[in-house]
Amino acid sequence: MGIQRTFSIIKPDATRRNLTGKINAKFEDAGLRIVAQKRIHMTLAQAGEFYAVHKERPFFGELCEFMASEPVVVQVLEGEDAIAKNRLVMGATNPADAAAGTIRAEFAESVGENSVHGSDAPETAAEEIAYFFSGLELVG
Ligand code: CMP
Repeated sequence: MGIQRTFSIIKPDATRRNLTGKINAKFEDAGLRIVAQKRIHMTLAQAGEFYAVHKERPFFGELCEFMASEPVVVQVLEGEDAIAKNRLVMGATNPADAAAGTIRAEFAESVGENSVHGSDAPETAAEEIAYFFSGLELVG
């Protein structure tokens, strides 16, 4: 698979509980390198654009309001097979289904407030990274 980059968000439920460092330790322990990172407070419009693929879903409004409710930490993670590796470290979307030791099993509060987002494929990773970061901000 080779070295990949993936996009990650530490969501408001996690920043509110001061879990940024604990979540970053999970990434780093798994061999993922944080090559870009910044704390931002998204507007409702930015959250809606980012999650546009989900706009027909019944939870879209709730999802966008949550993501714009408090600061998040947006990140680029780099490593061998980074997209799949990050999804393993995050665990299943619903924390009730997440494997022991994963971020969502340990920290997520619910399916909506599930502590982290990670890209699901190389194309979405590239789009999501470009939405939040310029090339100059990626320091590998
Ligand atoms: P994420 O990986 O950020 O991508 C889309 C998000 O939608 C997902 O994580 C969940 O947080 C959220 N989501 C998925 N299903 C539901 C649901 N049934 N209710 C509320 N939010 C959901």
